[in-house]
Amino acid sequence: MSIETDGIAYARGRFVALDEPVIPIDDRAHQFGDGIYEVIRVYRGKPHLLEAHIQRFDRSAKAIGLTLDRSLDGLVALIEEAIVRSQLQESQVYFQLSRGIARRDHAYPAVPTHLSLTVRPVDDSKFTAVRERGQRVILSPDIRWQLCFIKSLNLLPNVMTKQKALDAGVNDALFVRDGFITEGTSSNVAMIKDGMLITHPATEHILHGITRASVLSMCADLGIAVEEKRFTPTELMTADEIFTMSTLTEIAPIIEIDGQAVGLKALSPGSVVRRLQSAYTATLPL
Ligand SMILES: Cc1ncc(COP(=O)(O)O)c(C=O)c1O
Repeated sequence: MSIETDGIAYARGRFVALDEPVIPIDDRAHQFGDGIYEVIRVYRGKPHLLEAHIQRFDRSAKAIGLTLDRSLDGLVALIEEAIVRSQLQESQVYFQLSRGIARRDHAYPAVPTHLSLTVRPVDDSKFTAVRERGQRVILSPDIRWQLCFIKSLNLLPNVMTKQKALDAGVNDALFVRDGFITEGTSSNVAMIKDGMLITHPATEHILHGITRASVLSMCADLGIAVEEKRFTPTELMTADEIFTMSTLTEIAPIIEIDGQAVGLKALSPGSVVRRLQSAYTATLPL
């Protein structure tokens, strides 16, 4: 029997209440967005794909020259302790590493990095509707920087583009860079064409999603052919099925792009999207 709590936080080396003011004004995450982060979904008290998230966190840290203040095993132990302390069964763990706490100056300071973390409840019902019925999106220019494979705290282009979608009355937006679809504001995207799954290659222009990697390995098991190649908005509009992949929303069909109905096959029983959704659910911790 689980007790529902608001969750728990960790900052500056100790566990604290979520609303305790612990981040100093001079934290570089606060001043510059100078840091990286991860989000892990916890199902029935167990963190899903923990090792893959830890490895990506390490890659992001290295890509911007950050050194973690503990070993990766130490980080895993902290996450596991935080989940237990939260007393939550269905939750999301958010953790970030900032370049540290130092008086504001662009140059890297000679101070330790600062790890902080929260564990909060997840209300899955808000995602089940889009998984079942699909989502409506718009296309929008990819106004992000060149190094989108880094899970950087700098999410201003993602935030602005998500808001643009919400203001347009739809769920989300897909980014278009140099005439090709890259990904969503907080998800990867794939399409099914003649039974083949096509998704943007894992270059520096997309985040190398953990859910995306999981979907690609499920395709190998299910005998679904995969091609990692760029595709245009025109190709997308005529796809049989289209879907996004991300840690919290998991696998969710797209049924409308820029006001035009698309990929409606995804909603039928037996579609590739439905098969992938069931296969994904089967991989979740019991
Ligand atoms: C830009 C972007 N792409 C893709 C993803 C999906 O990544 P993951 O499956 O690891 O959650 C996210 C997740 O937040 C994201 O922000």
